[in-house]
Amino acid sequence: MNQFTALFLCAGLTGASAAGNADAHSRDSLLETLPDSHPATTVVKLPDPARDGKVSVEKTMAERRSVREYANAPLNLADISQLLWAAYGVTQPVPGVPQLRGGLRTAPSAGALYPLELYVVAGNVTDLAPGVYRYRPETHDLVLVAAGDKRPALSLAAASQTCVRDAPASIVYSAVFSRNTGKYGSRGRERYVCMDLGHSAENVYLQCGSLGLGTCAIGAFYDDAVKLTVRMTKPEEPLYIMPVGRLPKRD
Ligand SMILES: Cc1cc2nc3c(=O)[nH]c(=O)nc-3n(C[C@H](O)[C@H](O)[C@H](O)COP(=O)(O)O)c2cc1C
Repeated sequence: MNQFTALFLCAGLTGASAAGNADAHSRDSLLETLPDSHPATTVVKLPDPARDGKVSVEKTMAERRSVREYANAPLNLADISQLLWAAYGVTQPVPGVPQLRGGLRTAPSAGALYPLELYVVAGNVTDLAPGVYRYRPETHDLVLVAAGDKRPALSLAAASQTCVRDAPASIVYSAVFSRNTGKYGSRGRERYVCMDLGHSAENVYLQCGSLGLGTCAIGAFYDDAVKLTVRMTKPEEPLYIMPVGRLPKRD
C-alpha cells in the first residue's frame, strides 16, 4: 500500500473506488474537508487524575520499554484520564491568559506556548464509546470529534502497524506549529515543538509504567491519512501515535 491508497482508505473511499477516485479527489480536496474547529457538542468529563502513585519514578524509568503487544482487555476511563493528564494536564491553573489554555502543565513547553494537541482514538475503553476525542487540558475533558471505531483506519495510516489496530486506544499527538513559530521562527519548527513532544510523550511512557500499561511511540505513518482519520483541524500536523494497552500476561 502506498500513501495515496492509505489516504483514500482513511478518507472512507474503499477499494476500487479509491483508485477510481484518485483524479476526482486530489489530496488537497480531501484535506479541504477537514474542519476549522471541533464544536463541543458531545463532551465527556474525565475523572480526576491521581497526583500520587505506588511505583517510584526510578522503577518506571528502569523498566520502561516500548510495548507493541497487549492483553485482550479494555482500558477504562480512569486510565485515559491519567494518561492524558500525565501527557499535558494542567498542574498550575493560570486564569486569564488565553495562550496558556488553562495553565502550566505536567510537561515543559518552550515559552509556555503549548503547541501540542492530543486525541484519543478509542475502541475498547470501558465507559467511553468508540470514537475519536480531542483532549481539553483546561477542563480535563474530551470532545467527541468522530464516532465509531477508527483503530483499523489509524493502523492503515500507520503503514498497517498491528499495535495500532490491536491496542484498546491510542493517543495521537499533533501540533499547531504557528503557536510556536510566531515567537521562535524556524528554531521553533526545527527544534522546540518536537522537544515539547518528547517531554510529553515520555510522561506517557512513565505513566504507563506506573499503571501496568504498555505503549510505543509511533512516528512511521502517512501524515495526511492520520489527519483524515482523526479529523484534525486544518492547521494541525500529526506527530506521534501512542497505542496503549494492558501488559500481556507472561508465563
Ligand atoms: C521518533 C520515534 C519514532 C518511532 N517510531 C516507531 C514506529 O513507527 N514503530 C515502532 O514500532 N516503534 C517506533 N519507535 C520506538 C522505537 O523503535 C524504540 O523506542 C526503540 O526500538 C528502543 O526501544 P525502547 O523504547 O523499548 O527502549 C519510535 C521511537 C521514536 C523515538
